Amino acid sequence: MSTQTRFLLNETDIPKYWYNINADMPVPPTPVLHPQTLEPVTPDFLNVLFPMELILQEVSAERYIEIPEPVREVYKLWRPTPLIRARRLEQALGTPAHIYYKNEGVSPVGSHKPNTAVAQAYFNKISGTHALTTETGAGQWGSALAMACNFFGLNLEVYMVKVSYHQKPYRRILMESFGAQVFASPTDRTNYGRSVLEANGNNPGSLGIAISEAVEVAATSNGAKKYSLGSVLGFVLLHQTVIGEESLKQMDMAGEYPDVVIGCVGGGSNFAGISYPFIRQNLKEGRKTRIVAVEPTATPSLTKGVYAFDYGDTAKMAPIVKMHTLGHDFVPPPIHAGGLRYHGMAPSLCALYDAGYVQAVAVHQLPTFEAALQFTRAEGIIPAPESAHAIRVAIDEALDAKAKGEKRIILFNLSGNGYFDMTAYQAYMNGQLEDYEYPAEAVKAAMAKLPKVTLPA
Ligand SMILES: Cc1ncc(COP(=O)(O)O)c(C=O)c1O
Repeated sequence: MSTQTRFLLNETDIPKYWYNINADMPVPPTPVLHPQTLEPVTPDFLNVLFPMELILQEVSAERYIEIPEPVREVYKLWRPTPLIRARRLEQALGTPAHIYYKNEGVSPVGSHKPNTAVAQAYFNKISGTHALTTETGAGQWGSALAMACNFFGLNLEVYMVKVSYHQKPYRRILMESFGAQVFASPTDRTNYGRSVLEANGNNPGSLGIAISEAVEVAATSNGAKKYSLGSVLGFVLLHQTVIGEESLKQMDMAGEYPDVVIGCVGGGSNFAGISYPFIRQNLKEGRKTRIVAVEPTATPSLTKGVYAFDYGDTAKMAPIVKMHTLGHDFVPPPIHAGGLRYHGMAPSLCALYDAGYVQAVAVHQLPTFEAALQFTRAEGIIPAPESAHAIRVAIDEALDAKAKGEKRIILFNLSGNGYFDMTAYQAYMNGQLEDYEYPAEAVKAAMAKLPKVTLPA
C-alpha cells in the first residue's frame, strides 16, 4: 500500500483556465441591484468601482475563462500548492478515514487570497488603473492585495477593521512592507467613517463599515481609484477555482476521490475555490461528494441568516444581492477568525445552499481552536483561525467514520496559515476565549432594515 504523504504537481500543471460555475448553475441567477434605485445594476455603475474585464467575468456564462500568462507567471511563486494526506492526524484520531488537505497557506503571504489579488491587480493594470482601495478583516486579504499591487505597480489604500488592526499589528506591517497605506476603520478620512465615529467613538469596526469606506474613497475619486474586494463577488470565486482544479488532479494521483469536501466560509471564496470544481463533477459526472461549508456560530450567515436581498455594506453604497444575511449593519462579536465576520455570503453559494447542493455547519470558537491545536500537534502547521473551522468539521467527519467503522475520504481546504495569529492562540491557551452564539432575535430585528425589493414577475 502506498505511504505517499505529499501529492505535488509541476509548474506546468498550474491551471490554464478558471472554472465558471455560472455555466452549470442548476438554479437561475438572481439579479444584482443598484443600492439606491433597486433596479438591476448597469455595467456603467459597476465600472466606477471595477475594470470592465472583471465585470465581464462577473456576468460571463462561459464555462472556462483563460488565466492570462502574466497572472500564471506570478502564480508560479507558490502554485501548484501541495495536497497533503494528513496521515499523522489520522493516526492520532485512530480513524479509518483518509484525510487530505490542500495547503493554500504556502503562498508568500500565507493564504488563498493572492489567487484573486494577483488577477484583480493585473486586470486593473491593463485597464489603466493606477490605485486601488480595499478593506481587510484579519489582514490576509490586505496583505495579498498589497503584494499583488506591488508586483503590478499600483498604489493601495487598505481600510482595516479596527479591532483586527490592534489585534494583528504584524499584518499591518506586512502590508506596509509592500508599500500599501493602512488605516484603522472606522477612520475620519471618509464621510461614512466620520458618521460612524460620531455615533460611537469606540466602534470596533466591521467588514461592512470598512467596505463602505473603501467604496466611498474609490467612488468619489473621479476615476483616479478603483475598488477591490477579496470575496463574495462571482469573479473572486472564479479566480479561486485553481484550488479545486489542482485538487482534482492531486486526488487522482492519490488514487482516491473525496466523499466529502469541506471549507470554511467568510464570504465564500476559498470554499468555492476548492468545492466548485467538485460540484461540477457532481452535476456533470454523476459524482456524489458531500460539500460542506463551515462558519462560526458567532457569524452564522448560512445557518441562521435569512435568504433575502440585502446591501453588501453598511452604508448601502455597494450593490444589493440575494444572499443569506445577518443584516447589513451587523457588528460582529470580536471573535478571532476575523476573516469570517462578514454579514452576507457569495450569491452563487447561497443559491446552491438554498437548493440543497451544499450543506452548512456552524461551529463554536473553543472546539475550533481545540481542533486547530490537534492539527498542529499532528501535522506541524499552525492553521489560520478561519481554516481551523474546516479542520474542526474534518476531524468530526473522521471521528464519525471511526464510530461507524467506515473508510471515508475527506478533503478540506487549509485556506491559510496562522503565524500572524499568535495572539489568538495565546488567548485560547490562556483560557481567555469564550464561545458565542449570535442570537436569533438579533437576526430577526435586522430583517426589518432589508431593502424592500420587488422583482418583475
Ligand atoms: C485564511 C482565511 N481563510 C478564509 C477566509 C474567509 O474568506 P473566504 O470565505 O472568502 O474564503 C479568510 C478571510 O480573510 C482568510 O484570511
